[in-house]
Amino acid sequence: MATLFHNTHFTFTFIFLLFTLSTISSIPEFSEERLGPITITPTEKTTHLHFYLHDVQSGKNPTAIKVIGDGLGFGTTFIMDDALRQGPERDSKIIGRAQGMYSVAAQNDIAFLMMMTFVFVEGRYNGSTISVMGRNHVIDDVREMSIVGGSGVFRLAKGYALAHTVWLDTSTGDAIVEYNVFVQHH
Ligand SMILES: *[C@@H]1O[C@H](CO)[C@@H](O)[C@H](O)[C@H]1NC(C)=O
Repeated sequence: MATLFHNTHFTFTFIFLLFTLSTISSIPEFSEERLGPITITPTEKTTHLHFYLHDVQSGKNPTAIKVIGDGLGFGTTFIMDDALRQGPERDSKIIGRAQGMYSVAAQNDIAFLMMMTFVFVEGRYNGSTISVMGRNHVIDDVREMSIVGGSGVFRLAKGYALAHTVWLDTSTGDAIVEYNVFVQHH
């Protein structure tokens, strides 16, 4: 028994020593494998997108319509298919759309729950989507929402979107909102 124990102990020490030596000699493949879980995989990219969401509730061709609710009270819900444009101008080039819905989800405040998909129509992003979900407390200068997923170029997306209202018509509800989106994806 004593010999067995001794041998086992020796073997363990030997393996441990080998392990330590190979770590110290820092064979790149070996080090990478051990650090794998905490390193950022080289295929993961971060993309910054900047555009303006044009929310039109007025006129003959609204892009956001109220489907339920009174004023901006608790529960008021809109369905949207808003244009995403390169700039804040109404005739600025369309680069995508924000399709989804938003509801007043606060009882004593104007805070929307946003549930929308940005679908892009330009260049390499054409057809790719980013899914956004988050709280939009509209009177704040900058609101942060979560990127919860994506498709196409943005497959496995995660990140955040910063929204800043650049123009608002309080009588019609029409608004132009600047978006800065920071998205990590594969
Ligand atoms: C985007 O994709 C659609 C469908 O595949 C295609 O009809 C359209 O021409 C494309 N647009 C651009 C700008 O590449």
